[in-house]
Amino acid sequence: MTTRSVAAQTHVAQRRDVEAKAIQVGLIGLGTVGAGTFHVLQRNQAEIRGRAGRGIEIAMVAARNAERAKAYQAIVGDGLPCVGDAQQLVDNPDIDIVVELIGGIEPARTLVLKAIANGKHVVTANKALLALHGGEIFALAREKGVTVAFEAAVAGGIPIIKALREGLTANRIEWIAGIINGTTNFILSEMRGKGLDFATVLKEAQRLGYAESDPTFDIEGVDAAHKLTLMSAIAFGVPVQFGKAHVEGISSLQATDIKYAEQLGYRIKLLGITRRRENGIELRVHPTLIPASRLIANVEGAMNAVVVQADAVGTTLYYGKGAGAEPTASAVVADLVDVTRLATADPDHRVPHLAFQPDAMSDTPVLEMAEVHTAFYLRLVVADQPGVLSRITTILAEHDISIDAVLQRPGAGGTPSGGRAEGEGPTDLIILTHDTVEGRMNDALAKMQGLPTVLAPIVKLRKEELA
Ligand code: HSE
Repeated sequence: MTTRSVAAQTHVAQRRDVEAKAIQVGLIGLGTVGAGTFHVLQRNQAEIRGRAGRGIEIAMVAARNAERAKAYQAIVGDGLPCVGDAQQLVDNPDIDIVVELIGGIEPARTLVLKAIANGKHVVTANKALLALHGGEIFALAREKGVTVAFEAAVAGGIPIIKALREGLTANRIEWIAGIINGTTNFILSEMRGKGLDFATVLKEAQRLGYAESDPTFDIEGVDAAHKLTLMSAIAFGVPVQFGKAHVEGISSLQATDIKYAEQLGYRIKLLGITRRRENGIELRVHPTLIPASRLIANVEGAMNAVVVQADAVGTTLYYGKGAGAEPTASAVVADLVDVTRLATADPDHRVPHLAFQPDAMSDTPVLEMAEVHTAFYLRLVVADQPGVLSRITTILAEHDISIDAVLQRPGAGGTPSGGRAEGEGPTDLIILTHDTVEGRMNDALAKMQGLPTVLAPIVKLRKEELA
């Protein structure tokens, strides 16, 4: 027998020894997703073992403090240790994989880094942590030869990370547009369906448990931007750079604009968009008009959906629940199975954290918003006088901005049929443009805003055909 085949047989024997034993998991946090993970792992134990090739066992649960640990003990039963100090869990030499489900930056960051330093694999649903500190965390994981898996961090139960990183690996990805925050999609669906204003619907969403008591991260687009930043890094092989994302939420969106958009054949969604351009990458979250005929425009309530445009496959759409106990647990357990399958593999042969090999990452810049290409919806409140429309269209023409559609409706004080004489009151003038550069549009808007016949701040929304 050659030296090489003896070594190979020894490796196989060692591997079998390791694989005969269930992989040991430490779970930090037993809130909604943690409890969901615990229950899914228990319920589907046999199937999961069959897929992973060995058992996946929770060996320890950790809470933020002793009081919570006691409450967790009641959920998991007496056979499983629940500790009030997560440090104890990440230092436990028997644990192979640490699952971090406490969210937020600290103490999650310290615990994740310590787990990695201790040679443990990490599974996390923490989008904020990775969007802000992914560079540091992935670098340490590479150094220590461990995996950091984060399917649950983006779009809950939808396996979009797997799709982008592995399923679409043959493709050059061109753009991604996603509804990746369920709270805001629920609010927008209700505003459109019931004609209600933002504040009323937010209160209702809080009552129903769709929105948190402090909804800032959701309604201001921050949660969506965390998720978009991760998808963009994987799609384009760039570092995670949340700080460069344009983040705009829905709190100032008016029911009037949802209504006018609908009259023009569009729906307004909070989209996360990342797109490859010749001079850089667009990375932006904002309310966006999209044609009502697009599948993604019809994603309603708290559901999530992501459209990916890639050169070989064309357009693909991923739809499902972006939050909730078991949908998110589905993603956490999928990562546990992936990590378990590859735990004994050479780290260089595992799937890279951000899809591209570290030496193949690109430094393509993230574009400033002024450089972004998009179309616009403008709503101007104007005096109903001769020449007003022509002055506005002249300004657009001077900035080389082409008009797609114009709608004029009586503004506040007008009757629904428009039955009012000229000059009696303000008029809403809605203009849709074709694609332009945002900086150019901003210059044109400044000029329009200075016209004495423009009576209120101009509403500017972006419009994407997603063709
Ligand atoms: N709060 C998020 C949402 C789910 O509303 O979609 C977790 O990121």
